[in-house]
Amino acid sequence: MKNLHIPAIRVHTYGGPEQLLLEEIPVPVLAKDEVLIKVVASGVNPIDWKVREGFMQHPLPYIPGVEGAGIVTAVGEGVYGLKIGDEVYGSVDGSYTTYATVSTEVLFRKPPTVSFEEAATMAGARTAWGALFDVGRLVKGQRILVHGGAGGVGHFAVQLAYNAGAYVIATASEANLDFVAMLGASEVIDYKAAPFETQMDPVDIVLDTVGGDVTARSMKVLKPGGLLISIVNMPDPAMAEAAGVRSVWGGTKTLATMKTVHELLDKGLIKPYVRRVFHSLSEAAAAQEYSKSGGSGRGKIVLKIGEI
Ligand SMILES: NC(=O)c1ccc[n+]([C@@H]2O[C@H](COP(=O)([O-])OP(=O)(O)OC[C@H]3O[C@@H](n4cnc5c(N)ncnc54)[C@H](OP(=O)(O)O)[C@@H]3O)[C@@H](O)[C@H]2O)c1
Repeated sequence: MKNLHIPAIRVHTYGGPEQLLLEEIPVPVLAKDEVLIKVVASGVNPIDWKVREGFMQHPLPYIPGVEGAGIVTAVGEGVYGLKIGDEVYGSVDGSYTTYATVSTEVLFRKPPTVSFEEAATMAGARTAWGALFDVGRLVKGQRILVHGGAGGVGHFAVQLAYNAGAYVIATASEANLDFVAMLGASEVIDYKAAPFETQMDPVDIVLDTVGGDVTARSMKVLKPGGLLISIVNMPDPAMAEAAGVRSVWGGTKTLATMKTVHELLDKGLIKPYVRRVFHSLSEAAAAQEYSKSGGSGRGKIVLKIGEI
């Protein structure tokens, strides 16, 4: 692969979708503990356009994308347990490219029953697990409200909370009410029909995947001492104290969480849903714009990059 060049999306300047440039770059150099994967699909997440817009800093230039699925095409000399031809997925940093080097620590074997497109979306499940269990310590019998129950993180959170034996309430648009109920929510609130606060009884935990005024309003639906977890805004601690509830930032991810979520996927205990597939690197801008528009989500957005 030496001296070969491959297509990749790169961002040289923070800004709008026009900053997503399709360029030819050298094949990345493999480190000892890494594999080179041919990227088949990349998950498209809100963080992709937030970083591109400069909302979060990243050294420039960079290749967008935080997760993907593909096929191992070369193996570092210190790698054991993975070989050329293996189908894998995981935290692929810079996944809007045709080939990427990835540490084996953050890669998992793709179960044969799961498509590359589905496997490329599992970062949402890791976020959901981290917020619900690593941060929230959710246990059987608790009542939880999941905001954005049809979205990329929310649709995993509803499944995980239901599987844990929680009583799940979720918010969604009218078009997604049946989908979220099917995932395991006992009550699904149409948040556009009336304020969610007026449509439910108090809960032990709220998972906020929406932000804005939803974060503060969520404090009103918690039981005394209940916990507000946000993966979008850091909730105002003074406001939480005044409301007699607790609040915490839920954006945590550990290797142990990644392994747990992989086991659930492998056993078929959690299902990724793909909202829409964009079909080549040249559609990267359209995919990010679709993500930013909010879509009308039923799961996650995928950028299909390579063929198998
Ligand atoms: N901190 C972290 O580690 C981390 C990780 C991942 C994501 N995030 C953040 O979490 C947020 C959600 O990510 P995502 O991937 O789940 O996004 P997404 O796939 O776009 O889903 C967001 C969902 O929110 C729903 N929604 C919009 N406005 C709402 C409202 N007012 N009330 C209730 N639901 C509403 C929409 O549902 P309907 O279509 O049903 O209206 C949409 O499906 C983003 O801001 C992202 O950056 C943080």
